Amino acid sequence: MTRHFLRDDDLTPSEQAEVLALAAELKASRHAVRPFEGPQAVALIFDKPTLRTQASFAAGVAELGGYPMLVDGNLARIGTRESVADVARVLGRMVSAVVWRTFGQERLEEMAAHAGVPVVNALTDEFHPCQLLADLLTVQEAKGGLAGLTVAFLGDAASNMSHSFLLAGATAGMHVRVSGPDGFGPDPVVLARAADVAGSTGGSTTYERDAVAAVRGADVVVTDTWVSMGKEDEAEARSRPFRPYALTTELLGHADPEAVVLHCLPAYRGVEIEADVIDGPRSLVWQEAGNRLHAQKALLTWLMAHQDGGGPA
Ligand code: CP
Repeated sequence: MTRHFLRDDDLTPSEQAEVLALAAELKASRHAVRPFEGPQAVALIFDKPTLRTQASFAAGVAELGGYPMLVDGNLARIGTRESVADVARVLGRMVSAVVWRTFGQERLEEMAAHAGVPVVNALTDEFHPCQLLADLLTVQEAKGGLAGLTVAFLGDAASNMSHSFLLAGATAGMHVRVSGPDGFGPDPVVLARAADVAGSTGGSTTYERDAVAAVRGADVVVTDTWVSMGKEDEAEARSRPFRPYALTTELLGHADPEAVVLHCLPAYRGVEIEADVIDGPRSLVWQEAGNRLHAQKALLTWLMAHQDGGGPA
């Protein structure tokens, strides 16, 4: 069976803990493992803008002994020039894994169904699970563990980051509160799935419209841009309803006194987060960005170690 990482709950709680432990090991010893020795190629495809994800996967694959094969999404035009399935059948014969940032989750699922090699979600409209591995690693480093901590996500609770916090946080046994205005709540199917996972890990999940209530006593406070990729034409309309969710020094004052702040970046100071917060002493955003490298190296190493069979002919 080929294992993929298409959404956060593709890893069980124990598997997520294994990947995070490996990430900590690889952070301490960057060249300890070389699963792509050869070098074997890993396809990195981006249909949307990126800095961190492309850079961290490219550096990570190289550090794992492999060749990061950048496939230009604008040239490949996957699904337009040819079907996702046909692209998968071709790439699966050339590379050891496919990392893809794209639009709908169904595109990634189709790639996984036909590639015959591990497929990794580098962000879709629905989820951003690699970011969450880095975020959880960062919190684990700061707090010494994850289970039982309360995390508050502020802003677009219907976004991929909100959905991934619900699933990945629940998997880790955290109490996850996502908070945003009416009309921007999480997908009820994702919320229900996260509640189900939380029921088995001792965590919990909540959609809380009141930002102060969401942040009250939280150990981790997270925000993200209010205008996700593809929603740029909604920027003006979102500005007013989202304003109460801006992560200001005042709002952060309701969190636990030892609370830490995350933001997956890029950030817009003075919009979703105050400069004094992102550049302040509670902020772990640069450590978080750097942890993309270590978390994704651990994920790729773990996926390669959990494959059966030899791939396509
Ligand atoms: N956080 C994140 O995914 O960054 P990029 O969009 O720059 O890859």
